Amino acid sequence: MFSAFLSSTLTGIVLSKIARTIPASPIRKLVPLAQQAKDKGTRVYHLNIGDPDIETPPVMLETLRTWESNPIGYANSQGDTNLLGALLSYYHGLGFDDLTIANLQVTIGGSEGILWTFLTICDPGDQVVTFEPFYTNYASLAIMAGTSLRAVPTSIDQGFHLPERAVIEAAITGKTKAILLCNPSNPTGTVYSREELEMLVYIAKEHDLFLVADEVYREFVYDGREAISLLTFEKELPGKIIIIDSLSKRYSLCGARLGCLISLNVDFMAACLRFGQARLSAGLIDQQLAAALTKSAAGLF
Ligand SMILES: Cc1ncc(COP(=O)(O)O)c(C=O)c1O
Repeated sequence: MFSAFLSSTLTGIVLSKIARTIPASPIRKLVPLAQQAKDKGTRVYHLNIGDPDIETPPVMLETLRTWESNPIGYANSQGDTNLLGALLSYYHGLGFDDLTIANLQVTIGGSEGILWTFLTICDPGDQVVTFEPFYTNYASLAIMAGTSLRAVPTSIDQGFHLPERAVIEAAITGKTKAILLCNPSNPTGTVYSREELEMLVYIAKEHDLFLVADEVYREFVYDGREAISLLTFEKELPGKIIIIDSLSKRYSLCGARLGCLISLNVDFMAACLRFGQARLSAGLIDQQLAAALTKSAAGLF
């Protein structure tokens, strides 16, 4: 009775253009199909979603088990102090000694960081150049921000490495604000070479663009390859490099929904903090269990 009433009252509503345009996730679409197969006893290997099956570090679960703080309040909008300190140690450990807490903003997953980046550097109608195939949610997050993606194809014959400079430059228009690179790439697994990154830095400099690097899979490199962070090139492109990071993959912590934005651009960080203030804070429990890793013998941060 109630549901019939609900559906009749909802009929005919006019959804916003964004709501009409945003696509269902082609990745999530596979979830019920996989469940049906499992229900029939079929063994399913999930290649569709980056939810690592390596165990979450025990110290985090221990923090959950022994949680005592009551009430459970908001955290700071920039991020819980302990987590920010832990993240800073992690980035210093990578060699980015110039970073300070002011260059970090905790986000609700890398996903929120991608959305805020689009919202901060693009006006509606502006464009971001990226490389195809790309993580499908880039398209949805761009739509939410009113940004349009211009995807430059890469090919399997070239190991999905970047095409030459002229091909990338051909995708740049007067509306382009940034180049977005996922390194190591999801879904292709490609790890880009120093020469490729230098080419992007050159293009970004020539065309006055931001370089946004989604590095959530930084640690997922094999066969002696090295994922070079775009932050390495900060001096060549001062204030124009933005790093999207996440704890989801590195620590098998997808369910905690934590990520981090990194930039030396003061205005960018200040705008992101205002976005952070608008959504109050990321989850306090999530952040404190992530920060607990600092105390772990594994010293994962
Ligand atoms: C390339 C890439 N970036 C960002 C994300 C967002 O992940 P999260 O919001 O859990 O950090 C994902 C998730 O699968 C991803 O594959």
